[in-house]
Amino acid sequence: MDLSATLAGVHFANCVMNAAGALCVTRDELEALGRSRSGAIVTKSMTPAFRDGNPSPRYHSFPGGSINSMGLPNLGSPTYAVLIPGLRQFGKPVMASIAGLEPADFLDVAHVITEVRPDLIEVNLSCPNIPGKPQIGYDVEASRSLLQRLNGVITVPMGVKLPPYFDPAHHEAMADMLREIGVAFVSVINSVGNGLVVDPERECTVIKPKGGFGGLGGSMIKPVALANVRAFWKLFDGRVPIIGTGGIVSGMDVFEHGLCGASAVQIGTVLVDEGVGVFERLERELGEVLARKGYRSFAECRGRLREL
Ligand code: SIN
Repeated sequence: MDLSATLAGVHFANCVMNAAGALCVTRDELEALGRSRSGAIVTKSMTPAFRDGNPSPRYHSFPGGSINSMGLPNLGSPTYAVLIPGLRQFGKPVMASIAGLEPADFLDVAHVITEVRPDLIEVNLSCPNIPGKPQIGYDVEASRSLLQRLNGVITVPMGVKLPPYFDPAHHEAMADMLREIGVAFVSVINSVGNGLVVDPERECTVIKPKGGFGGLGGSMIKPVALANVRAFWKLFDGRVPIIGTGGIVSGMDVFEHGLCGASAVQIGTVLVDEGVGVFERLERELGEVLARKGYRSFAECRGRLREL
């Protein structure tokens, strides 16, 4: 079964890859992704300098999902600039995820990372976990201004990682702006920001930062993720590749993302729960689903959701 994907001219032998944030901070983690069946090596969202991130506990997994408030812990872009050339030995695309607390941070990281030419750059407009910093992706004009400036710096295919939107007007406004900018791909969705999970026995929050508020992931967010994949697929008429992220725990979930319009997918919670062996399982399950339904490739099911 052909599970490959091509996005912005870059070939992925397997359409399933890690999401920025999941087991991709350190050199060891990035190399483990390289040795795994992940379709790409996606780095943790990086800032200009090393960050410890938020205080622990900052990640909690529970039946149905996860909540995190990591706070962008990462090694800093100069270190990733040293690591990225070495990741080429694994023969799969390297996607650098870039972030910042201020627009100037994104530009600084973009300058440093463009130099080492990752295959793609994903601009993270959607981290919900920095106290006092709203998610840029919820402000169309701030996003436009940042992306216009990044366009002048980044010389590899540039995509965006967006937060979930809950209203068609917001999908439309964002899609109009992204079309104008000419992004190479769109990743939807980042975690559903600022949820609250409570431990009723201990009568407390399950994570420490931000009073227990954090980004929700895992199977419970799948309908929100699929809606965002579908909305952008339709608004772009299938012309801008979409990476679907959110709620994938099985090969069938990958198939659902494909039906809604995803060219490839990323996994977070299930990767943290199961480790890099999960790529092999998802590959096998997706292959079985596609074969049972008479498809010859993942690409063939893309966007084919029927509306009743
Ligand atoms: C984090 O580091 O807090 C998660 C990153 C993200 O959600 O973008």
